[in-house]
Amino acid sequence: MDTDYLIRLERADEQREVENLIRESFWNVYRPGCSEHYVIHVLRNDPAFVKELNFVMEKDGTLIGQNMFMKTVIEADNGEVIPVLTMGPICITPELKRKGYGKKLLDYSLMKATEMGFGAVLFEGNIGFYGKSGFTYSSNFGIRYHDLPEDADASFFLCRELIPGYLNGITGVYQTPAGYYVKNDEVEEFDSQFPPKEKLKLPGQLFDE
Ligand SMILES: CC(C)(COP(=O)(O)OP(=O)(O)OC[C@H]1O[C@@H](n2cnc3c(N)ncnc32)[C@H](O)[C@@H]1OP(=O)(O)O)[C@@H](O)C(=O)NCCC(=O)NCCS
Repeated sequence: MDTDYLIRLERADEQREVENLIRESFWNVYRPGCSEHYVIHVLRNDPAFVKELNFVMEKDGTLIGQNMFMKTVIEADNGEVIPVLTMGPICITPELKRKGYGKKLLDYSLMKATEMGFGAVLFEGNIGFYGKSGFTYSSNFGIRYHDLPEDADASFFLCRELIPGYLNGITGVYQTPAGYYVKNDEVEEFDSQFPPKEKLKLPGQLFDE
């Protein structure tokens, strides 16, 4: 396991292949179909995109995973604007899920983000996976998710400091970078460039469409 994969930066000539990998990995997981392959397509050209942290994972010459980061901020209650990272999409090809590759990719990416000097990473995710890599609920740091009512369940919203103590004394509101909000009709048009795939409504999905 330790030596049967390679993590490296995404190359320009494999962007479509990566988008197809993301599409295969996210398809019907959170909604019928998915939008994440279009999200990365858009975000690569966003000024907040961190190109030094745009990773793919390769095994036996085939792409099996990817992860990427964006710069964003916490609007602190004391008026400060705290630079942080957000992350994703991250994926592992469906055939190789739950074999430990996702954790290896995540931990490597976080190490590289730490080396670059970033202070904290916040995003929406499942504590079952991310908790094993040092994430906890953002509420434990006093960081709130934008536009979420105070009494709403925020257990989807996770945080990890990369610099210990980076968020000490800070409370405030995290902002999702605007680039993540893609329009459904643009997703549909983009998706039509890929091989046809059936959208299914499945139990456990978070969204209807
Ligand atoms: C989420 C994803 C990247 C995880 O990668 P992976 O290689 O499957 O995960 P790993 O094998 O490294 O998991 C390590 C541990 O995290 C936990 N874990 C992994 N996926 C989990 C999930 N969906 N729910 C709860 N816990 C999970 C497990 O404890 C797992 O160990 P175990 O299999 O021994 O129990 C991958 O499953 C994927 O691409 N999913 C579809 C796309 C997606 O949901 N991306 C994340 C969006 S936030």
